[in-house]
Amino acid sequence: MTDHDAHAASLRHALADELQRVGELHSPQWRRAVERVPRHLFVPEFFRWTDGPNGVTLWAPVSGDHDPDRWLELAYRDETWVTQLDRHITPHDVTEPVSGDPTSSSTLPGLVVRMLEYLAVADDTTVLEIGTGTGYSTALMCDRLGDGRITSIEVDPGVAANAAAALRRAGFAPNLVNGDGLDGVPGRAPYDRVIATCSVRKIPRAWLDQTRSGGRILVTVTGWLGGYGLAMLDMGDDGVAEGRFLPGTVSFMIARPQAPSPISDDQMSTAFKALTEATSRAAVVGPDIRQDWAGTFVTQLALPAAQVKTISIDGGPLITYYVDTATGSAASLTPEPGGGWTVRQSGRIRLWDDAESAVAIWRRAGSPEIDQFRIRTDGHEQRVWLDTDDGPVSWSLR
Ligand SMILES: C[S@@+](CC[C@H](N)C(=O)[O-])C[C@H]1O[C@@H](n2cnc3c(N)ncnc32)[C@H](O)[C@@H]1O
Repeated sequence: MTDHDAHAASLRHALADELQRVGELHSPQWRRAVERVPRHLFVPEFFRWTDGPNGVTLWAPVSGDHDPDRWLELAYRDETWVTQLDRHITPHDVTEPVSGDPTSSSTLPGLVVRMLEYLAVADDTTVLEIGTGTGYSTALMCDRLGDGRITSIEVDPGVAANAAAALRRAGFAPNLVNGDGLDGVPGRAPYDRVIATCSVRKIPRAWLDQTRSGGRILVTVTGWLGGYGLAMLDMGDDGVAEGRFLPGTVSFMIARPQAPSPISDDQMSTAFKALTEATSRAAVVGPDIRQDWAGTFVTQLALPAAQVKTISIDGGPLITYYVDTATGSAASLTPEPGGGWTVRQSGRIRLWDDAESAVAIWRRAGSPEIDQFRIRTDGHEQRVWLDTDDGPVSWSLR
């Protein structure tokens, strides 16, 4: 064993200790996988978050070429390492910090193993993974269950090719597919487990069709307002999956086909004009509800087709706009000098009335955390609900 290999092995051991200490890692089998899978082969280069001027986030490239010891240590940190920005920029493409939106990464190892523990696998469990990313989580599953039981699909061709190469280098040979994971991988179905490391607004019917009855689906449910909840659903005999949200503040990048089309300048100016002419009232709930994890989730359930933007016009106050581009409905929330907010609403859907009703129900129920919500889907209608003293309250997405 070279010094480099010995160092990497000791870093893996330390990572496993750390994950066990913080309560993410429990089973000896997953511990063995963490100790064996060389994460550094899956993150030969990545981006590190840094502060840019005026509070802008920049991403600095890190690779083994410049400072191998530092890179190796970072590779085994319990941190998410971003590997692609804006769907095309890789660390290889840049020498200086750059701006961009993360579009692929190696997920935080603590979260990866937490999700793997939730899968509750046996030695012969078959798994479909959506979002291969770097291939690190795929490799952990191959180590634990064997290559032949793992299928992983990645939408981005470049990301998929890098993952395939890294998995080969690390000695793993799962069934890899480059394509849209929302369709699943029917050729190898049914699976005992489906695990997604990208989030979805709506759980696709294909996943239900491809999960064995009694099997499990683990996926982060999101939307377009930045709310997230990690959901664990068990598959019934009737083609319906039902389950609950798990504790914690888990977020993943949204599955690419379910990302919203951005609000266009035209849509925004139509909304501005309609809102200028709209009547106003004092808001009961302010946009600062977004500072609350479950509050954001509730707002998103109530406004499933809305997007949010915060804009200051001509140096004025920061105004928060909610816009539903499908119907052109909009709401604006303007801060008042003495505190509180004024809301204006336009269009067919009174967006903020709906948001306030949902938040009122949630508050009356004691502002429960995300793990008090439940979920059920037949692939057509996805229902999320909360049991309250007045009975269940649910929100549907079709
Ligand atoms: C957080 S990363 C995956 C992390 C990965 N499990 C790891 O350990 O490296 C999410 C990945 O999901 C992929 N993705 C997004 N939408 C997808 C889709 N519809 N089907 C398959 N993969 C998708 C992204 O390209 C990205 O690589």
